[in-house]
This record gives sequence, C-alpha cells and structure tokens, in this order.
Amino acid sequence: MDVVARANQAVAEGRDIVMMCVGQPGSPAPTTAREAARSALDHGRIGYTTAAGIDPLRRRIAQHYMDKYSVELDPARVFVTTGSSAGFILAFLAGFDPGDRVAIPSPGYPAYRNILRSLSLEPVELATREDERWVISADMLREAHSKKPLNGILIANPNNPNGTMMKPDAFHELMQTSAELSVNFISDEIYHGLTYAQPEICALEISDECFVINSFSKYFCMTGWRVGWMVVPENMSETVDRLQQNAFISAPEISQIAALSAFDGIDEMERVKQGYEANRTLVLDRLSRLGLKKVHPIDGAFYAYVETSRISNDSLALSARILDEANVALTPGIDFDTAEGKSWMRFSFAGDNATLVEGFDRLDEWLSRQNL
Ligand SMILES: Cc1ncc(COP(=O)(O)O)c(C=O)c1O
Repeated sequence: MDVVARANQAVAEGRDIVMMCVGQPGSPAPTTAREAARSALDHGRIGYTTAAGIDPLRRRIAQHYMDKYSVELDPARVFVTTGSSAGFILAFLAGFDPGDRVAIPSPGYPAYRNILRSLSLEPVELATREDERWVISADMLREAHSKKPLNGILIANPNNPNGTMMKPDAFHELMQTSAELSVNFISDEIYHGLTYAQPEICALEISDECFVINSFSKYFCMTGWRVGWMVVPENMSETVDRLQQNAFISAPEISQIAALSAFDGIDEMERVKQGYEANRTLVLDRLSRLGLKKVHPIDGAFYAYVETSRISNDSLALSARILDEANVALTPGIDFDTAEGKSWMRFSFAGDNATLVEGFDRLDEWLSRQNL
C-alpha cells in the first residue's frame, strides 16, 4: 500500500504512472451488482443487517458451493464479512488464544502476519521452495510442528504474490496432516474463479473442520464494496456470530445487496477473466524478453512473482527507482517475504492489456539504459 501511496502521489503531481502494483481488478463490479445497489439506494433505507448477513445472500453463497464444488453447505455456516480482511480477524479470534502459533507461507500476503501479531498470535513463516513448487507441503508442516507445536495453518490457493496453486494431492495431504496434528486449517480462497492451469479445490470438499475465507473483491471486481464471506465449522457459528456482532455489527447492507446480484453477472466476469488470461501470456513473454526468467508458476490470480537479482538485490530501492525513473509502479518482494524478498518483485496484471504493454515498453527502455 506504501508503493500505491507513492505512485498515487506521483499521479497527483501530474506524472503518468503505469500501475502494475495494485492487486485490484481494473474492471468495475458486475453490471447486475451495480444496478441492484442503485435500486436499493433509490427505494429503501440502508441499515444494519443481522450479524451473519442477509439470508438470501447466505443462501446464494451456500448454493454457489453446490454449483461449483458439489459441496452441500448449511447456510447457517456462512457469514458475510467486511471483505475477507474481516474474515481473518474473525477466524483468528474464534480459532485461537493469545500466544498461539499459526503457520503461513513465505512469500505470502503480508496482512496475515500483521493481523496475527496485532491479535497477540505468533505467525510462523514457512519458507516455500522451488523443489516443493513454492507451496507449503505436508512434510514442511510436520517438520515445523515437531520443532515447536503449531495451533493453526493459513494458506491461500492460488497464493499472493505468486498465483501459485497446490496440486490436488498435495492439498489433500496438507489438510489431512493438519487434522492429524490438531492444527486448525484456514483456507483463503479469495482467488478462486481466477485460475488458468488447473481447477481450484475448495477445502470444504475435503473436510468440514476448517475455516474458508472468500471475498467479492477479486473475481467479482468489488474491492471497494468491502464485502466477503467465510464458512466456519458448525461448532464455531455461535462464537463467530457474537464476535461479528461486537466487532463489525454487520457487513454494509448495500454491498450485501450488490453481492447477491453479482452472482447473476458471472458471464460478464468470465469475460474479465479472459482479459487476465491474455495479460498473463503477455507478461510471461515480456518478462522473458527482459531476461527475467525465474517466475513462480502463475496458476491463478493476476500476479507474476519474479526474481530480479539480475538488476538489483534491494527490491525496495529498485521499486523506488523504477517508479522515479521509468514511471512504472511495481511491488517489492520484501513485502511478501522478509527473508528472500530482496531479490524479487511482484508484477500485477489486473489492469488492461494496453497499459501493460506500455509498462513493459517503459521497463525495456529503462533497462537498456542500465549498465548490467
Ligand atoms: C491473498 C489475499 N487475501 C485477502 C486479501 C484481502 O482482500 P479483501 O479484504 O478485499 O477481501 C487480499 C488482497 O489483496 C489477498 O491478496
């Protein structure tokens, strides 16, 4: 977000910046969602809802699990949240006690460790490796647990910053191992729907004893509406309901109304996804032409995580230089991996194709001026 702030500042100063740093779609929410919100504004009062969310939306989300994953889900286990960000807070508060240790991937989404720490929980960053295809394996979980017991594990599949996904067998094995070790499993499925290489598996296909976190932010292009959802184990419903009542009261009603109609906009969102697929091809080609060939497998999401040691081993300084000198905003890997991220950068391809072409042209030109 600091990079975005600096880039926005540059834009405010009148500079033309190509934003390849933000993890948000360039397209708006589905037309159906925007129409529903407009009509709600015209016809009613927007108020609090019940803590768990409006019933039609909870039922529609449960239906989505049947349609997409053939999972039968009781809507009573569905909670509508203020983005998936609120879902993490609720899951962490419900699932853990102060001092508990929660494994997360490195590289991974930085808010995991920051939220965990702010709730007096201990993030245990497990460094993913190329020989494990950059994902946490069951063996890695066992090894970490044997050194010092863990209470939880949180993974995103596809992951941010790399878009990398676990193979179905590895996912099964990881969930089974966490159950054997009595380690609470939290599955961040925010990038479901945006996969290119293999279909996504939902943790609920394997077990009911897990928290599943999801959001309307990415697939449905609704970042600013701040609406997401979580599915909780049956015995957690009451706890999560009370936490939600006290911490957030409810997710914004207008966003819930829009989210319900977003499910009618799937065709439109599939066209948006086709745009990311074209962007992904372009990004891989242009990175390779820049001599940046070490890229984590982009199985899903809209990011390329790229080794940039050929240019610099200080990704923070590199992102500042590229912003200042090439007018392109990229995210330094150090945000996602405090140990190795100095040599990596994240390129987001959530925007439009022409802007990406312009961004890579600028990077080409800038690199040709460097003495490498
Ligand atoms: C992996 C992952 N999880 C969760 C979020 C938070 O999303 P939101 O709170 O908008 O649902 C993000 C945002 O970039 C993310 O990348």
